[in-house]
Amino acid sequence: MLTNSSAFLKKADKGNYAIGGFNVNNMELLQAIVEAGVEKKSPLIIQTSQGAIKYAGIEMLGAMVHSIAKDVKIPIAFHLDHGTDVDLVKEAINSGLYTSVMIDASSKPFDENVRITRSIVKAAHKKGIWVEAELGSIPGKEDDVDVLDKDAFFTDPEEAGAFVELTECDALAVSIGTKHGVFKYSGGRAKLDVKRLIEIKKYTQVPLVLHGASEIPTELKKVVEQYGADLSDAFGVSARVLKKSIANGVNKVNTDSDLRIAFTGGVDRFMTKNPNNMDPRKYLAAGREATKKAVMRRIDQLGSTNKA
Ligand code: G3H
Ligand code: 13P
Ligand code: ZN
Repeated sequence: MLTNSSAFLKKADKGNYAIGGFNVNNMELLQAIVEAGVEKKSPLIIQTSQGAIKYAGIEMLGAMVHSIAKDVKIPIAFHLDHGTDVDLVKEAINSGLYTSVMIDASSKPFDENVRITRSIVKAAHKKGIWVEAELGSIPGKEDDVDVLDKDAFFTDPEEAGAFVELTECDALAVSIGTKHGVFKYSGGRAKLDVKRLIEIKKYTQVPLVLHGASEIPTELKKVVEQYGADLSDAFGVSARVLKKSIANGVNKVNTDSDLRIAFTGGVDRFMTKNPNNMDPRKYLAAGREATKKAVMRRIDQLGSTNKA
């Protein structure tokens, strides 16, 4: 069932676990995530990026999510991920499709981020929609964190306290060293600034969100590498570091890249074994099955198994 209450994030905060924010772009990814959530009896946050909306359309994505959610008992939020376009965020709020939105004005100066976020919070709350905001900047694959000024880039704990108070956002995405994309880190796993996370949690009372948190697991890398990909220098956030972050206030963990690798590996494997197959349902189902397994593993890592 769809839920527009942020209560499940607060429950996760009290229970020291996290709920997965899983990105979808098509039907098979959505089915994989929901089937995994149902089997694991886990709450879910299904999210669409602006890119997903460009690819599949807000109505199409919304209809699929509403259709699948009404048939299952686990609580499912339908969330807009990284809303940098204020008009699109407003469209999502007014569409009647989304249960929550992320306003991402993190590229703006503090005061402007506050102003934009506050106005979205007001509009969203009127419609019973909760809001995730971002303070500090979570880099994409093109940004090299090692050469960036961490103090300028990472979330400042005191500022985070003021930001939450001024904006009244319901959840806060923080920058503590994670990066988006498959090729996040080269040469080894991420080192996150957990001390900073602990400080942020002291100043804020809302559930915190970790973006760019994919693990890029060796097992998934091995599958796509069998079929020609080179992910030898792609690393993510280890399960150990993730656990430490969850123990220190992270209650929503976004995962997209791991699902992309899993799906691609499933399709690669099927098509290599069945090169004459011309039925897209067959290889899409293989991608779906591989993604479902990856999501089930992720749910266990987040601690949200049996929390529905
Ligand atoms: O935060 C980024 C997500 O992985 C979405 O990526 O913009 O390619 O859909 P995308
Ligand atoms: P990954 O690229 O690490 O999966 O992060 C996804 C994300 O943060 C979506 O908002
Ligand atoms: Zn993100």
